[in-house]
Amino acid sequence: MILITGITGYIGSHLALYFDKKKISYVGVDNLSYSYKSNINNKKNLFIADISNLKKIESILEKYNINTIIHAHHNWDSAKKKLKKTTMDHNIYDK
Ligand SMILES: NC(=O)c1ccc[n+]([C@@H]2O[C@H](COP(=O)([O-])OP(=O)(O)OC[C@H]3O[C@@H](n4cnc5c(N)ncnc54)[C@H](O)[C@@H]3O)[C@@H](O)[C@H]2O)c1
Repeated sequence: MILITGITGYIGSHLALYFDKKKISYVGVDNLSYSYKSNINNKKNLFIADISNLKKIESILEKYNINTIIHAHHNWDSAKKKLKKTTMDHNIYDK
């Protein structure tokens, strides 16, 4: 299962559209700081959260058995320091 960060942004929403067409399973996270829910059709697996909210992100990783993360949010540097403390490394969450 794939997690897309920044899913309602330009890149994220196009990825979601592509995955819908290809019937690839995914969930997404966005804090809606630069976008709108209405940018994506499939809202059932959309979580409104900030990527730095580790409790929330880790609960999504566990619940949906995420093995791949595609980062399409745009303030990676500010979140990186916090995320370093987890088992996330670059774009892959390795269980
Ligand atoms: N659009 C392009 O042509 C392009 C080209 C090359 C690289 N990129 C890179 O791809 C990434 C995404 O670009 P985009 O054009 O889709 O940007 P965008 O602004 O359209 O989308 C970014 C999304 O991230 C969300 N976001 C921002 N901070 C967040 C946070 N802390 N937690 C959760 N969500 C957060 C925003 O609400 C937004 O929906 C950026 O890093 C950008 O530099 C984009």
